[in-house]
Amino acid sequence: MSPRSEFKSKLGFILAASGSAIGLGNIWGFPVQVAENGGGAFVASYLALTFLLAYPVLMAELVIGRYARANTVSGMLAISGNATRLIAIVTGYWGIVTASLILSFYAIVAGWMFAYGAAAIFQLAGLAELAQWMRDFSVSRNIIFCAIFMLFTCLIVRSGVSDGIERWSSWLMPALIALIIALIVYIATLEGAAQGWQVYMQPDFARSLQPEVMFDALGQAFFSLSLGVGTMMIYGSYVSKNENLPRLGVGIVLMDIAIAILAGMLIIPAMYAAAHSGVEIYNASGSLVNSDGLIFAVLPALFDNLGTVGIVVSAFFFVMMSLAALTSSISMLEVPVAYFHEQQSMSRRLAVSVSAIIIFIISLLIIANFDQFFGMVISFTTRYSEPLIGLLYCLFVGWVWHRNKVLQELKCGNPALEQGLFWKLWPSYVKYVCPLLILLVLWQSVA
Ligand code: PHE
Repeated sequence: MSPRSEFKSKLGFILAASGSAIGLGNIWGFPVQVAENGGGAFVASYLALTFLLAYPVLMAELVIGRYARANTVSGMLAISGNATRLIAIVTGYWGIVTASLILSFYAIVAGWMFAYGAAAIFQLAGLAELAQWMRDFSVSRNIIFCAIFMLFTCLIVRSGVSDGIERWSSWLMPALIALIIALIVYIATLEGAAQGWQVYMQPDFARSLQPEVMFDALGQAFFSLSLGVGTMMIYGSYVSKNENLPRLGVGIVLMDIAIAILAGMLIIPAMYAAAHSGVEIYNASGSLVNSDGLIFAVLPALFDNLGTVGIVVSAFFFVMMSLAALTSSISMLEVPVAYFHEQQSMSRRLAVSVSAIIIFIISLLIIANFDQFFGMVISFTTRYSEPLIGLLYCLFVGWVWHRNKVLQELKCGNPALEQGLFWKLWPSYVKYVCPLLILLVLWQSVA
């Protein structure tokens, strides 16, 4: 058998893993949650929870992955004992199912981003009718653009870890960052934007401690860092033994947070600029328009009010969204692909086709029964599955896997680990604090 694939460079890994983390969750989810939950108040809770809870879980996934060097099923088995074998297998498969289900709805939403980006380009080319079809919600539009998005995802994943995922992430990520910064600067010059900056920057601290704000912030932190589905475990399995894992983890978290904060600097001022130009951003009951209303109605209305420049800005905006979605979707697809490739001995190409066809069929079912399934799949995967699987990963690392083995694995690439702060805090964190906090959140969301 050929040696297992690896990321070629440290930077390549950081770009790929932060590419997975940075997605619609950061650029869409985060700003919307900030706007709904008292501006800076949400930012404060989100930052605290990301460092205190999400980072330790991220490390649990990365360390299991690099130790086992395998897909999620074999990975969980590698750290389990006889008594916990069955739970390990279930956890491994559950991750694969969750990653696939997330991709099935993510590809639909990303398809809309593609469609809106293409619509702006067609409008510039004078094909207004076609552009309108791309913007209108229809089954045919949803199917076609979901398929196009899945095709792009497959093409990248097919080429493998270093030639596909790493190579593409290494240029998609800088392009994404450049686009966000250019858009922030442009939107800041619009009238009304200043008010958005004010709302964003002034935290209402009384609200950051409210339980609902904390719970929303935790869900956001998990989804945003791609935790609880095995993506980070799989990416960890391709990291070289010479790398310092805790430090790589910090790099990913910082990138993820930085882009979320930047996205806030773009979307929130844009929202207030839209309000200034006469677009409704609050509905009849006085609350903010819902999150898809913001991206697919408020912002396009703002762009329309800006004339031709607006169409160009709109094209850039939706291309940026599509790039962000693509670097995340490849990481989701890699979860079932690694399983079929390694566990079922399929060639990588076949594994990609099989996984993508299954996921696309699920997307079709969601599109055909949109009102019933769309919200349900999102809620099942992101509110319940991700935290529960994250909880299981922590329990395995904290209680099942031998502490000495964890230490040995983390010491690869970081021989002085035992003297540092990380080893003093992290083991008891994953053992006690993370499981308890995750249970608390789950209990709250059920109640
Ligand atoms: N982190 C991605 C985002 O913020 C979503 C994601 C979830 C990616 C789970 C992979 C796995 O959009």
